[in-house]
Amino acid sequence: MSELKSLSLSKAMESPSYPWDLPLVNLYGDVVLTFMYYDVPFVPTPEVVVRRMLQLARVRPGEVLYDLGSGDGRIVIMAAKEFGAYARGIEIRKDLYEQSMARIRDLGLEGRAVILNTNFFDADISDADVVTMYLLTSVNERLKPKLEKELRPGTRIVSHDFEVSGWRPLVVEEIYEEWRSHKIYLYKIPGKEVPVPSSRAGKVDDPLAERVMALVDGNNSIEDIASKLNMTPREVRNVVNKLMGAGLVEEIRIIR
Ligand SMILES: C[S@@+](CC[C@H](N)C(=O)[O-])C[C@H]1O[C@@H](n2cnc3c(N)ncnc32)[C@H](O)[C@@H]1O
Repeated sequence: MSELKSLSLSKAMESPSYPWDLPLVNLYGDVVLTFMYYDVPFVPTPEVVVRRMLQLARVRPGEVLYDLGSGDGRIVIMAAKEFGAYARGIEIRKDLYEQSMARIRDLGLEGRAVILNTNFFDADISDADVVTMYLLTSVNERLKPKLEKELRPGTRIVSHDFEVSGWRPLVVEEIYEEWRSHKIYLYKIPGKEVPVPSSRAGKVDDPLAERVMALVDGNNSIEDIASKLNMTPREVRNVVNKLMGAGLVEEIRIIR
């Protein structure tokens, strides 16, 4: 009930600059109806909070981001437009899916941003570098096993206002925006991905692969190598995959 109240209040107080904002008189009906059909009603995250969520997650160009329950697509759009991510929203409501896809097309972001009209419990998000959520603690609780099973070690998860209970946040930040404060929780999937060199000697054909290979020693994780070479883990993983193809790396060992 307190979660419902928090979202309802948030909806009621949201700036009326969006055409899909309902008048206050319809608010409770909207929220109740939404709860009957979906897990969470549509309440947009203010842009200033979106930007801070993406900054805290350190979204970098070329990284893959999923927004679970993407609403009007604002997180996806900002992640693609301002942070250079490949951003994917998952939205169960057809009207919001259509509206956000239209906005993506208007902005010419089709190559970087997309919305999938499906239930986030059914979607494959295993290639995520970053996951954003503005759901409810109870929904986060139901999503937790999927996130823990599917996401790679090191994946960052940023949740607006609602915690993932049982997980220890790396950062909790409070942001004051016009009329209320918002909390942002940053989490990281624990564990490491460690590339293991093979016993085969071989020549590496490009300088970047050579620099990565020099750090593949069975101890350095993909994240360690990325931070030493100022690359993203995704970029390092791509190089390591090529090195595996060339027989120079035996495997990527997952240590949970
Ligand atoms: C609180 S809104 C957040 C919107 C957006 N992420 C933001 O922060 O501005 C939650 C959204 O999740 C969508 N949603 C609820 N249950 C869902 C489900 N099972 N699968 C996909 N989307 C869902 C709702 O339709 C709504 O648009």
